[in-house]
Amino acid sequence: MTSEQFFGLIPAAGAGERMAQAKPKQYLELLGRPMLYHSVKALLADPRIVTVFVVLAPADQEFKRHPWGEFGERVAPLYCGGATRHDSVLNGLVAASSTLEPDDWVLVHDAARPCLALRELQRMLDALAGDEVGGILGVPVADTLKRADATGRIQRTEAREQLWQAQTPQMFRHGLLLEALGRTAKLSDEAGAVEALGLKPKLVQGYSTNLKVTYPEDLQLAQTILTSRGAQACE
Ligand code: CTP
Ligand code: MG
Repeated sequence: MTSEQFFGLIPAAGAGERMAQAKPKQYLELLGRPMLYHSVKALLADPRIVTVFVVLAPADQEFKRHPWGEFGERVAPLYCGGATRHDSVLNGLVAASSTLEPDDWVLVHDAARPCLALRELQRMLDALAGDEVGGILGVPVADTLKRADATGRIQRTEAREQLWQAQTPQMFRHGLLLEALGRTAKLSDEAGAVEALGLKPKLVQGYSTNLKVTYPEDLQLAQTILTSRGAQACE
């Protein structure tokens, strides 16, 4: 019988260049806590998640300045981030190898998605436990899509049927993910590496509120979303 243990892995070693702030965006303040805190908490909200590994830059000095005690042993920092997200995830999977079995599930989740809702996480775990391949959270594209020409004018309208926006978590078995990321060059998500093996990850529908904080205005949006769910600012 295959294992159904679930682990989280949060790559949090990026520089947040598009945010253009003094510190990497995972440490920007959101309701009195670093954004990373909310992403960790969101994954740990489901008791089926055993541990969340957080992949940090080797020189990270900030993680340990924040309190993580409320999560006990369920948060494990790994100081092995790499030059790209792909490298950070792969390094984290290798570092976690002593804890994880090849059949264990790993949910890779961006530090920059602090608004993951428990209901969509539960839906994902329910939909994929026992699956042969794994899958990702995403949302069907809602807007009409235009392809631009080099001058910024509309070249044509693209059909949006069956197009999805990929989000995280991206959930695959540890052994499969290690193999997939080890084989592929730089890809922007885990599913792409698994697809390159000829497999078809499942799309699990989530919410558009699971946005990735990328630009400064996104932080305010994330705060509004969390506050609307009753989250209170910490002193
Ligand atoms: N990430 C990482 N290691 C890297 C680059 C990115 O762990 N070398 C992480 C980020 O910390 C983030 C996630 O991957 O949690 C998604 O990446 P992105 O949103 O692109 O974050 P940054 O790379 O930090 O931002 P930017 O691209 O604007 O510099
Ligand atoms: Mg990036």
